[in-house]
Amino acid sequence: MDQRKMHGVWANRWTFILAATGSAVGLGNIWKFPYIAGENGGGAFVLVYLICIAIVGIPVMMAEVLIGRRGRMSPINAMRYVTKEAGLHGSWTAIGWMGVLAGLMIMSFYSVVAGWALNYIFTTGSGTFSGVNGEQAGELFGGLLGDKGGQVLWHSAFVLLTLGVVAAGVTKGLGMVARVLMPFLFVVLIILLAYGFIKGDFAAAFQFLFDFKFDKLSWSGVRIALGHAFFTLSLGMGAIMAYGAYMPRHASLGRTIITVGVLDTVVALVAGLAIFPIVFATDGLVPSEGPGLMFVSLPVAFGNMPGGQVFGTLFFLLVSVAAWSSAVSLIEPGVAWLAETKRFNRVASTVLLTSVAWLGGIACIYNGAIFDALDFLTSQIMLPLGGLFIAIFVGWLMRRAIVCSEMDAEGHPLFDIWLFVVRYVSPALIAFIMIASLYDKLVN
Ligand code: TRP
Repeated sequence: MDQRKMHGVWANRWTFILAATGSAVGLGNIWKFPYIAGENGGGAFVLVYLICIAIVGIPVMMAEVLIGRRGRMSPINAMRYVTKEAGLHGSWTAIGWMGVLAGLMIMSFYSVVAGWALNYIFTTGSGTFSGVNGEQAGELFGGLLGDKGGQVLWHSAFVLLTLGVVAAGVTKGLGMVARVLMPFLFVVLIILLAYGFIKGDFAAAFQFLFDFKFDKLSWSGVRIALGHAFFTLSLGMGAIMAYGAYMPRHASLGRTIITVGVLDTVVALVAGLAIFPIVFATDGLVPSEGPGLMFVSLPVAFGNMPGGQVFGTLFFLLVSVAAWSSAVSLIEPGVAWLAETKRFNRVASTVLLTSVAWLGGIACIYNGAIFDALDFLTSQIMLPLGGLFIAIFVGWLMRRAIVCSEMDAEGHPLFDIWLFVVRYVSPALIAFIMIASLYDKLVN
């Protein structure tokens, strides 16, 4: 009860859905998914990603939220509570610690990319892109990457925005933002989709994303797909566990999480179907463009469509908002924990942790190798490992009666299927992919 007063509780099930979707839908969907799909050959990669979402991501997400709601505290203390309840050794709390660390690591490079999006609100708004071709758009993006000082400013602005919401308390700070702006993002994505359909090479894009050519798929591609399933659902580091801790007691966990997972996946696929038609219809753009894909292909579309200046500005505004509501969840687990220790209040905790991430972001700006390393370590190692341990914990170590009552699934046939997946299928798949890709790396 004490903790609930301290952090607040979501007003109802829908606020949780919006907040969790706000966390899940972010740069991962709009920026990262299209470019990694592009780099890994499209179709087969997308299929593996969808499989990972369905049989690892969504089931493990239920497990992670379940721990949060059971423990009712920051991930570190929630893990401590459920570990004690299960009569186990305290080392399981490491899941919480690793999560706090992973959150800061992700926030470091995430806020750099979000800074690019903030910058693009103004670049697009001032009409810089009007009439550009692919090559010119590429040069403009390259110019931003070369301007280190400018990037630091945009990055800092984004970190400050995040600080504001987290300091205010997530349940208070976020509700409005999510409720109003998330639906807006959907609308603009649909408009972009329509533009790509009419003006771009939609058929080529569709084929690229959904034609399953397995010869293009490598083990590293499979590992990237798994890692991205975790990244895009904000899974494996306690973010969604922290949000689960603020979930009302009587909300159906299963249905709620499926809603979030489906929304997140739809946004990613629509973003892909909006971006690739333009890529294929524009000379000088290729799917394997890399991290610059969204920042180069979409300006070409905005620069050449009627009303593009307005839509473009709105689009990058919404991407920034989506990134904002995600970044909040990267910092929240650590802040909630620090606030629980009572050594700092919420504001001081937030300032402390965002400062760490801010410094990490500056390191990423000046050294691209750090950017890549943080991305790799978190998405492809820490998040899947976190998910593996969460699945093992809920599947094997928590008392079945507790799991069943938290899921509110007494006698529901889907409960047994879910528990089977969390016990056997998800852990086995995570372990198999990690081991196989490691083996593949060692052999080749
Ligand atoms: N899911 C967000 C996105 O796709 C990023 C994110 C927010 C995240 N919180 C997280 C990723 C926690 C991993 C863990 O942009």
